Amino acid sequence: MKVIVVSSYDELSISAAEVIEHQVRVNPFSVLGLATGSTPIGTYRTLVKKHLEEKLDFSRVTTFNLDEYCNIEPSNPQSYAYFMKENFFSKVNIADHMTNLPESHAEDIEAVCMAYENKISSRGGIDLQLLGIGRNGHIGFNEPGDSFKSDTHRIKLDERTIKDNARFFKSIDDVPRYAISMGIKTIFSAKKILLIASGVDKAEIIYEMIHGQVRPAVPATILQMHPDVTVILDKDAAALLERRRTFN
Ligand code: GLP
Repeated sequence: MKVIVVSSYDELSISAAEVIEHQVRVNPFSVLGLATGSTPIGTYRTLVKKHLEEKLDFSRVTTFNLDEYCNIEPSNPQSYAYFMKENFFSKVNIADHMTNLPESHAEDIEAVCMAYENKISSRGGIDLQLLGIGRNGHIGFNEPGDSFKSDTHRIKLDERTIKDNARFFKSIDDVPRYAISMGIKTIFSAKKILLIASGVDKAEIIYEMIHGQVRPAVPATILQMHPDVTVILDKDAAALLERRRTFN
């Protein structure tokens, strides 16, 4: 695991965007795995800037998002489909048919999950997967206790995740209780992984992800076993790495 610590959220966003830029410039046909949440917003903003000012071309890129809430229409501002449109897809030259999110309002969820996996495989797998991390260690929506062997599947959200994500909804009762997420196995199959985290709220889980025992109770610990992971942190998210090294 390569860990890069930068001084601010803005620097984190620039560094993460540069990793994605490199991927797309080296292979314009890249398959990107994308993430939502507040952390990657600056990364998307920087990529949009690179598209507008430095001709970064997304026209041949395919994207697969990690997850989507269940029973939420793409037109709902709280949906991840809407988030991606707002923050990225509508601002760069990527055609709708090249972007993919789990279709979470479908009736046959199992068929949707299988189709998502098959589509990722048919594109040759994910070249670079962008990840954030939940405060409980979730990646995508793979909550504590989920199997490391899971493919794309429906997930019951953890109480902590529901509380954490309530800030995006009118009230906590509006937060969907289920989501569809790529599984840990899907994420782990990506050729490269880029995880970003910002803020002191993430310091404890980042320490655990890097130094904790690998176990399903902390899903992100599985990344210790992946051969090509880059972690970019601002100094607040890295605070315990620094402090505990000083005192050890
Ligand atoms: C959500 C998403 C995750 C994301 C996490 C952290 O629950 N499903 O993919 O990593 O939140 O979000 P934030 O970046 O807002 O802390």
